[in-house]
Parts: sequence; structure tokens; C-alpha cells
Amino acid sequence: MIARVAAGAPHVGITGLGISVPERVLTNQDLEKMVETSDEWIFDRTGIRERHIAEPGQATSDVAVPAAREALERAGVSPGEVDLLVVATASPDMLFPASAALVADQIGAVNAAAYDLLAGCTGFVYALAQAYGVVSSGLALRALVVGSEALSKLTNWNDRGTCVLFGDGAGAAVLERVEGGGFLGFELGSDGSGGPDLCVPAGGSRAPASADTVEQELHYLQMNGREVFKFATRAMVTSAERLLEECGLGVEDIDLYVPHQANKRIIDHAVRHLHLPPEKVRINVDRYGNTSSASIPIALYEAVADGALADGMTVLMTAVGAGLSWGSTILVWGNGR
Ligand code: ACO
Repeated sequence: MIARVAAGAPHVGITGLGISVPERVLTNQDLEKMVETSDEWIFDRTGIRERHIAEPGQATSDVAVPAAREALERAGVSPGEVDLLVVATASPDMLFPASAALVADQIGAVNAAAYDLLAGCTGFVYALAQAYGVVSSGLALRALVVGSEALSKLTNWNDRGTCVLFGDGAGAAVLERVEGGGFLGFELGSDGSGGPDLCVPAGGSRAPASADTVEQELHYLQMNGREVFKFATRAMVTSAERLLEECGLGVEDIDLYVPHQANKRIIDHAVRHLHLPPEKVRINVDRYGNTSSASIPIALYEAVADGALADGMTVLMTAVGAGLSWGSTILVWGNGR
């Protein structure tokens, strides 16, 4: 799916952001004591130094709630005014009820339609597109989109090929109609033929949880790293290029690039091929690891907090992930509300 926001359509933008990460930090040195790996290997191959890990008993909705509250506070929106609450996650509290319903209950979003969206690391961009559509059409006045993960719970801590990559965290955004700017377009896609390259095989209807699935460790995240790497490097570039063309923009029109923080090598490849100047690129994967659907909102929040993203600037966001899936959006920052 690809679309540029039609001329004359209402402007819809982000009016508040919030983030939250679990307190516990797991460093590469900590991992050296858990599996056969080294800080040097992890940093060279991924750019990651440390990540935050949820406590036992701390689930995705618990991580999401503080981020959701902060985003609402920054937007000046009360929980009861939220019409739509989408939690993008690949690690929901349970298969159902939706983590979004649990978050809505916790924050008091009593008037919100609430559901989860599963599109792997691309989930936040997909959820932005949905919220954009619902707010733009007038179905909702205020939408709250949260990317939240506790992927550490689905991680096999004996598998050095995956356990060094991921981190837990949440980022939230409030979407409302704004006076000017806002979202300019979206490009979203998926290719399920690559699904097995990044999956949690058991626990769903294909392979319900059993003693056997546990013994085979099929309830943990599994990844074909090389295939995902090839897909990710390709899709990060093609998705962004397609959307830029659709929106009639060149790369020189982009003031800030906020890519999904999977791996610094994947980001570097995209930056080179898109011909983006390094000073326009946000990278925080060193401090958080890959927080999946939370990575873009966390990076966006930090860009606003340190002044790298200011009113009137145009920001390009692209994510790729399980599905396999990909998605980009371009947004003119600043709400002018
Ligand atoms: N520490 C030390 N050695 C390791 C580790 C580790 N943590 N993990 C793997 N190795 C070893 C392998 O066993 C292999 O050894 P061998 O040659 O003796 O068999 C060697 O390192 C090289 O392994 P590769 O898998 O070829 O390493 P590669 O350079 O491809 O890097 C990585 C692996 C980092 C996982 C890479 O494939 C990658 O980044 N893939 C994308 C994964 C990703 O980002 N997924 C996120 C989810 S989706 C998304 O967000 C895009």
C-alpha cells in the first residue's frame, strides 16, 4: 500500500510523545557471562552496547503504561478523551485479551476502542497509518499509538545468535488533527513467504503450547539472521525511495531520518544508499538494542528532547521486521494546534 496524503485532506500530526524503558540494564559484558560472545563481536556486528530488560512479572502492557501517560500529558489530552488506542507489539501480555485493552484500563481510557497490532518491528509505522486514517476521516478525534515490547520474555537466553540483539521498551504518540504539516504519506508492505525467517513458532494455533514445543524451545523467537539482514538492508532503502517518490520529495527535503533501530550495520547501509548525510540520522541502538515496535518512537522522542527535531522539519521514518514487513512514513513536525 502506498499513498500520499491528498491535497485538501485534514492535517493530522503527532501532538505528544512519551517513552518508558525497564530500569534493569543488561550490558554486553553481562552477556559475556551468559553465552559465548564478546562485547567486541556484538558491537562490531550490531552497534549495540546495552539494552533494558523487563523484570520477572513485568509484561508489555506494564512497560507501555508510563509511555502512554507521558504522551497524553505532553499532548494535553486526558485519558477519557482518547477515542482509539492501538498497541503495536510482537510480545503481547498474552494472545488475548489485547494488551491495548489492559493499557486502556490502566490509564483510564474508558472511551477508547483498543486493540493490538502485530506487524513485527514495523508495527509502530503500521499503527501510525491506521491512526492517521481514523483521525483524518473524523472517526476519532484523538488516537494513542503505543509501540511496546517485552521481547526478552520470548528470547532464548542460550541462543547467542538472537539474545544479544533485543531490548525491552515502549514509545507512545498522540495523533490529532493539526493546523498544518502532519503526515504526508505512507508506504507499507509485507511478504509472508519470509515469515519463517523471523518467528516464534509455538504458542499459537499452528503449534499450540505443549511439553513437546517447550522441550524443542519452539516458544522462543527464532531468526535466520543472514536472510533477515539481506531483506532488511533491501527493504529499508526501497520503502523509503518509493515513499519519497510518491510524495514528490527528494532526499534533500528530509531534515531528519529516524530508522528502525535493529542494527547499526542495517542503518548504515540504508544511509549510504539513500545518500543521507550522517548528521541527519538518529541512532540509539547502542543504548537500547532492538526494541522492535518501540524503537522508532523512542528515537523520535529523543530527537525532540535534544532539539534535533523542531517545528517545520520533515522527518522520514522507516521500519522493517517480522512478517516479513516493512513501512515508511514522512511527517512534517509541529502541530500548530
Ligand atoms: N557472539 C559471537 N559469535 C556469534 C554470535 C555472538 N553473539 N552470534 C553468532 N555468532 C557467530 C556465528 O555462530 C557464526 O560462527 P561460525 O562462522 O563459526 O558459524 C559467526 O558468528 C558469524 O555468524 P553470522 O550469522 O554470519 O554473523 P553475521 O555477520 O550475519 O551477524 C547478525 C549476525 C548480527 C545476527 C546479522 O545477521 C544481523 O544483523 N541480522 C539481522 C538481524 C536483525 O536485525 N534482526 C532483528 C529483527 S528484524 C528487524 O528488526 C530488522
